[in-house]
Amino acid sequence: MTFQTQLRIPGPTPLPERVVRSMNRPMIDHRGPEFAAILAEITAGAKRVFKTSNDLLLLTSSGTGGLESAVANLVSPGDEVVAAVCGNFGERFAALATAYGADVVRLEFEWGQPVDPKDLEAVLERHPKAKVVLLTHNETSTGLTNPLEALARVAHQAGRIVVVDGVSSISSIAIDTDGWGIDVAVSGSQKGWMAPPGLALVSVSDRAWAQQERARSPRFYFDWKEAKVWAEKGMTPFTPAVGVVFALQEGLHMIEEEGLSAVYERHERLARGTQAGLQALGFQLYAQEGYRSNTVTSALPPAGLDVAALRTALNDRYGVVIAGGQAKMAGKMIRVGHLGAVAAGDVVQVVWAIEQALEELDIAPADGRGVAAVTNSLQGVAAAAR
Ligand SMILES: Cc1ncc(COP(=O)(O)O)c(C=O)c1O
Repeated sequence: MTFQTQLRIPGPTPLPERVVRSMNRPMIDHRGPEFAAILAEITAGAKRVFKTSNDLLLLTSSGTGGLESAVANLVSPGDEVVAAVCGNFGERFAALATAYGADVVRLEFEWGQPVDPKDLEAVLERHPKAKVVLLTHNETSTGLTNPLEALARVAHQAGRIVVVDGVSSISSIAIDTDGWGIDVAVSGSQKGWMAPPGLALVSVSDRAWAQQERARSPRFYFDWKEAKVWAEKGMTPFTPAVGVVFALQEGLHMIEEEGLSAVYERHERLARGTQAGLQALGFQLYAQEGYRSNTVTSALPPAGLDVAALRTALNDRYGVVIAGGQAKMAGKMIRVGHLGAVAAGDVVQVVWAIEQALEELDIAPADGRGVAAVTNSLQGVAAAAR
């Protein structure tokens, strides 16, 4: 018997009760003063999280819609665009630009490896006409966080428009949008923001607006100009996901109450704990050391373990839901999400459940190794902080 599903996928993330309750209310007029006040509050709060004084647009779509808006507003058919690819989401961003007719220059790295700023510099030198650079902050498919500050600086200093997929990082992993020279950053409500899917948050710099004027891709629903004009009147151009807006407002309250630096530290602590627990259970961490993500841990299974059987056992008998690999890593890895409303006990629980399931599947006895490792890590980090 399981009483409550433990959602340990890298998004959608668990909803805190406060957030669930925030949505339990009648609809409001999305063209009225109450909505305008909430929109203003969310915009200001999100700007603090993004660390930007640029425009911040709220679009009703999943994260991919925010990314598509960036391409639709910045790229003209035939334009050279540099896309740094080190996993499935980088791949998708490149495919998105190709779909808009861009001539995509791929800077590719092996899955599990980060994008190297020196290689980015070299590719930009070779492609002086590429105005737009697409970067992924946290590559959710491989559980890796790219060295965004260095990458963004290289592209910014080369005079390019820096576009960052921060869907699974912003609000959980530090970013300094303005300080690092990021022109466009995109996130999604269902990740660290602790809200359901349905809203994309997009920051747009002056340089990006100038490029937007020049770019000639077709755009309508995702026209940033429209979003900005309407935002200035306290509205969105089209009917927004009002319920998700309530949730995002509450999620932001919780982030601000905890404090951004505490939120980032918690994510780091939980990531280290999860990594320690999985390693003790014989999993091999997939992402290169030094670049492992604080929001999602990816790992290759111990010999003989069928990932699908593990996930089924976890789901059916422990109510714990984890993710598998994507694309070429489907069936070959596990991914454990620990972003948003996740606490120390939650990562102990997921490691405990995996340990139990490994015994059930005749891989290894459940002797407490995993739980001890995750607990030691959590306590060690806490002790070091005291
Ligand atoms: C890094 C990254 N980019 C893009 C996306 C796509 O976002 P969505 O599924 O909200 O469209 C995700 C979702 O997991 C992601 O993690």
